[in-house]
Amino acid sequence: MSQVYLNGEFIPVEEAQISVLDRGFLFGDGVYEVIPLFNGKPLQQEEHIARLYRSLDAIDLSIDQKPEEWSKLFQTLFFLNKDDGDNQSIYLQITRGTGKVRSHNYPDGVKPTVFAMTMPFIPGIQANQPHAGGKAITVADQRWQRCDIKSISLLGNLIPHHSAVQAGVTEAIQIDDQGRVTEGASSNVFVICDGRIITPPLSDRILGGVTRALILQLAANDSRYICEERELSANDLQQADEIWITSSSREIVPIIELDGVSVGSGKPGPVWEYMAGLYRSYRDGTS
Ligand code: PDD
Repeated sequence: MSQVYLNGEFIPVEEAQISVLDRGFLFGDGVYEVIPLFNGKPLQQEEHIARLYRSLDAIDLSIDQKPEEWSKLFQTLFFLNKDDGDNQSIYLQITRGTGKVRSHNYPDGVKPTVFAMTMPFIPGIQANQPHAGGKAITVADQRWQRCDIKSISLLGNLIPHHSAVQAGVTEAIQIDDQGRVTEGASSNVFVICDGRIITPPLSDRILGGVTRALILQLAANDSRYICEERELSANDLQQADEIWITSSSREIVPIIELDGVSVGSGKPGPVWEYMAGLYRSYRDGTS
């Protein structure tokens, strides 16, 4: 039986309960993180925790836990759920807690609800195993102006995700009302154009992905490919030699078909192959 963490206790998932007045349930008033553990070792934990506190700050929610206090909790959860394998993701969610009534006002003196669980995680990038790649569609970005906050209010992401599911593809890549590529329903987007690795710049229209930042950092340290953070159009996507989507749970997925048309050769491209190798070495601690 899975063990989860809820407000200071490790308990079986079936026993974990929150009030119907929890503001996460009523308003989606909370934030979250997904942190992958490879062989029980968190990847980019500091970066995930830093983003958690940025999200908390953005919604004016303070918690007792200090950034350095999470490691122990994550390790305990991992060991309690070790039967699920060596690769797991931590899902951490913090809401503004349970008010006395349903009110739009942020309540005073209410303890935030802190919840964490593990989810099995199957690394997509494996040594000596070809990647099947994924397909994507483009959709209109219909979300709000604070996509930089990792908010649990995810309807704006679920709608495009559902479109992707209905189309039988891996991801929906969103294009905003000014024709700019923003991000996937739950991933960041990269394209390869003339040998350059290009991704939209950080802004309040996208989530600053930890995987996105890691790829930019690995590419900069390696210096084989030039990276650019600049706006991309739907046309750039159509002309791209390669398209990738990135996230902590999916790593780097080469997109081999966009809106029913092959991307580049219709197979994972050489730049993806190279960068996936750098990522895998970093992840596995062999670089
Ligand atoms: N999602 N953009 C959006 C909208 C996301 O939801 C995610 C990740 C990313 C990539 O961020 P990172 O590289 O830090 O995982 C970008 C997580 C995995 C999820 O919601 O499950």
